[in-house]
Amino acid sequence: MVESTKNATLTVDGQSFELPIYSPTAGPDVIDIRKLYASTGMFTFDPGFTSTAACESNITFIDGGKGELLHRGYPIDQLAAESHYLEVCYLLLYGELPSATELEDFESRVTKHTMVHEQMHNFFRGFRRDAHPMATMVGVVGAMSAFYHDSTDITDPWQREVAAIRMIAKLPTIAAMAYKYSIGQPFVYPRNDLDYAANFLHMCFAVPAENYEVNPILARAMDRIFTLHADHEQNASTSTVRLAGSSGANPFACIAAGIACLWGPAHGGANQACLEMLQEIGTVDRIPEFIARAKDKNDPFRLMGFGHRVYKNFDPRATVMKQSADEVLELLGVDDNPILQVAKELEKAALDDPYFAEKKLFPNVDFYSGIILEAMGFPTSMFTPIFALSRTVGWIAQWKEMIGDPALKIGRPRQLYTGETFRDYVDVEDR
Ligand code: CMC
Repeated sequence: MVESTKNATLTVDGQSFELPIYSPTAGPDVIDIRKLYASTGMFTFDPGFTSTAACESNITFIDGGKGELLHRGYPIDQLAAESHYLEVCYLLLYGELPSATELEDFESRVTKHTMVHEQMHNFFRGFRRDAHPMATMVGVVGAMSAFYHDSTDITDPWQREVAAIRMIAKLPTIAAMAYKYSIGQPFVYPRNDLDYAANFLHMCFAVPAENYEVNPILARAMDRIFTLHADHEQNASTSTVRLAGSSGANPFACIAAGIACLWGPAHGGANQACLEMLQEIGTVDRIPEFIARAKDKNDPFRLMGFGHRVYKNFDPRATVMKQSADEVLELLGVDDNPILQVAKELEKAALDDPYFAEKKLFPNVDFYSGIILEAMGFPTSMFTPIFALSRTVGWIAQWKEMIGDPALKIGRPRQLYTGETFRDYVDVEDR
């Protein structure tokens, strides 16, 4: 823990309380309120955690004003351009870029764990064919704790490590299986001669009846999507994983909790919601109608793929994703697709509109990722599972950091209670 260098003074009813202030290596100072309740009998109130640092972390840093995202200090645009997903996984998990030997060893460890227990195939078959792949993933990832008993003891660092490698290796297999099951095709086993992203495309698009050659440009684009989603500091799903983990729950259960949280349209579900919104808009001439709805206080509609809690200038992931989208669309020769025309025009219309400028609402990573995934041939229901498999490493890195922290305490927020105070029970005939 960093040392406190100065104090804040809180005065309540004429009485003053000193609260230590800590200065991080980057980002705003934080006021330590851990002793606030004990010394003042008061709680703080911060629904949505807009002003609360819930943990100390040295993995990922975001400067929302500058549009900066750093993993262990390295900017996301450099990692997306020059590194690749498994190297970024290593960086997130172990804190430094690997040497060539360390990377080779890590890749080989992940690759050796890509298959899932054969009995898990039966588990998949218990789901309805029309189940959303996210529903299947929440269930199957949670069920990993029933298949891999030798990596659920969180007090054993070796078991924590094995659980981490297993999840990074198996999540693409599980996501691809959820997809294959939903379209009635046979599961495709992983191929360990392919790299991480190419293997995922293979498991999603190959069929036993014919050869499937992975296009290296698409594999690179897929890898970049994984890299851009790898971690994002204390977002809703990561905080969910940390909260679940703070009780001592096993890592598979914690990651399943993260997947459940990610599913919501305000978070990882936005990529699916965004593409569906573009489909609903349908033609460029309907854009003004949807922009007007997004601005209407009485209409709950929001422009999906726009806005971010932390980024108030631009989303640096979106900048890279936009370039990637242009490359993929050109390669696939689909830049005349009507949905893409709507996306381009909507982006322009929103950026030119004072409402979005004043509220600092810019296209986020999900605006462009959906466009690429659609062009690659993924159905919208697979967009969020792809986000989930990419984010698994971030969840695990944050979970491992938390478990290794001697200051770990179970997460237990308090509340501003506004319900009834004490009253006596009334018998049913007297009510
Ligand atoms: N369209 C229209 N208005 C919006 C939008 C939007 N997409 N996003 C925010 N606003 C307005 C909102 O109505 C509010 O207006 P007012 O101040 O007049 O009440 C103001 O902007 C601030 O919004 P907020 O809901 O207080 O902001 P937040 O930080 O709580 O929410 C957000 C952030 C990402 C949930 C929100 O911008 C949103 O719902 N966006 C659409 C969903 C989306 O694209 N999510 C993906 C986020 S990036 C990937 C990820 O993290 O998973």
